Amino acid sequence: MSSSIRAVKGLVALVTGGASGLGEGTARRLIQQGASVLIVDLPSSNGQKLAEELGERCAFAPTDITKETDVEEAVKVVKTKFLKLDIAVNCAGIGSACKIYNFRKNSPHSLDDFVRALNVNTIGTFNIIRHAVGLMGKNQPDEDGQKGVVINTASIAAYDGQRGQVAYSASKGGVVGMTLPLARDLECEGIRCCTIAPGLFDTPLLSKLPDNVRKELAKDVPFPKRLGKPEEFANLVQCIIENPMLNGCVIRLDGALRMQP
Ligand SMILES: NC(=O)c1ccc[n+]([C@@H]2O[C@H](COP(=O)([O-])OP(=O)(O)OC[C@H]3O[C@@H](n4cnc5c(N)ncnc54)[C@H](O)[C@@H]3O)[C@@H](O)[C@H]2O)c1
Repeated sequence: MSSSIRAVKGLVALVTGGASGLGEGTARRLIQQGASVLIVDLPSSNGQKLAEELGERCAFAPTDITKETDVEEAVKVVKTKFLKLDIAVNCAGIGSACKIYNFRKNSPHSLDDFVRALNVNTIGTFNIIRHAVGLMGKNQPDEDGQKGVVINTASIAAYDGQRGQVAYSASKGGVVGMTLPLARDLECEGIRCCTIAPGLFDTPLLSKLPDNVRKELAKDVPFPKRLGKPEEFANLVQCIIENPMLNGCVIRLDGALRMQP
């Protein structure tokens, strides 16, 4: 019986936010599984150093995902360096914590902060996808007719956003909302699209919080009672790549956590 499970070995991936946290975990795992990876992250990130550490199947493209020309350039780099693109994993993102109105100071949520969260988390993700799929579409289809996979990162805050998460939740809700229409837009080319909605993961994004707050957060996770590890996120990325039936869906990866108000 022929298997439809797609091996990661030999595939080419672009990983945004690949210099840190969930993106770094993904880049490491894909390299370890035999893929080639272009790390797409800010020029100020650790991307160059990490790419050198991961070896010749890895490269770094300094990129701001919100900028049109930067993203066009990153896709050109993947084409020149690795000749094709099979997988785009969107991990780049920023946090945002502010309530809609400060009634003590009579001051509304900053409009700039709201725009910034949407610009990076939603528009940046969209910007990568719209360019990446053009290159994926040039691939020879496999026996299932498949040419590529897009994997996005939302958050459980898209569903149960807490106080102060209005901008962040809106930005991640946008990523959840685009998942199914992307899968439908791309089915004609055999390109799948899935989104992972992580709960709480131990990454530099969360390490900015004080230790006691991180411990408190972990206590609310039903099981396992701890923060997730980047390699657990990367493992799901690999499963999505390998399993052609996963398409047009959002998968919560959260140890059954439902965040409290
Ligand atoms: N850590 C968690 O608990 C958690 C939970 C839910 C969702 N997420 C989401 O997972 C994703 C990864 O988060 P993380 O925890 O690994 O954070 P992180 O801060 O460790 O990594 C984010 C990376 O994105 C990069 N980045 C930010 N803005 C960028 C831009 N404009 N262009 C290119 N790169 C940019 C940063 O340089 C950084 O390397 C984010 O989208 C985040 O919202 C994280």
